[in-house]
Amino acid sequence: MSLMDTRKADVEHHLGKYPDKLSAIMPLLYIAQEEYGYITNEAVEEIANLLDVDTTHVRGIMGFYVMYHDEPKGKYLVYICTDLPCALKGAEAFSQRMCDHLGVEAGGTTEDGLFTLEEMMCLGACHRTQVMQVNFQFHENMDDEKAIKLFEELRREHEVSKPFSGE
Ligand code: FES
Repeated sequence: MSLMDTRKADVEHHLGKYPDKLSAIMPLLYIAQEEYGYITNEAVEEIANLLDVDTTHVRGIMGFYVMYHDEPKGKYLVYICTDLPCALKGAEAFSQRMCDHLGVEAGGTTEDGLFTLEEMMCLGACHRTQVMQVNFQFHENMDDEKAIKLFEELRREHEVSKPFSGE
């Protein structure tokens, strides 16, 4: 299945939005990531074909922006800012404790595939450290207790949203 099979309306919407279709590259990468969980090799080729560019151009954009992934990630992508202003307030230790809690190394994904934790440069809320981003949601003034509570809420949310297996 290609993006033109599953997301044709979205793809065409973005291709039609710009005078130069190359400008649609970022939205198309987002669509691929939404659709497959990460940007597959097939999606890179399809996007390159749609935009009449080489796949290296598509991969260049993917490599430049941290929000694009070329490998599977957890359902919840947790970014913790460990940039200098947050680091001065203990962000690295906070990140390590959250890694320990989830049982992963920084950059790793939990065995159940729910959480990927990544350390990140400035998330733009330096005065409200500790700062986390989960998927597209920001969480400021975090501490261990709040972060662990958030992970538990997300686990429950995932359990509730799982389709009924009938077992
Ligand atoms: S340095 Fe952490 S949010 Fe800016």
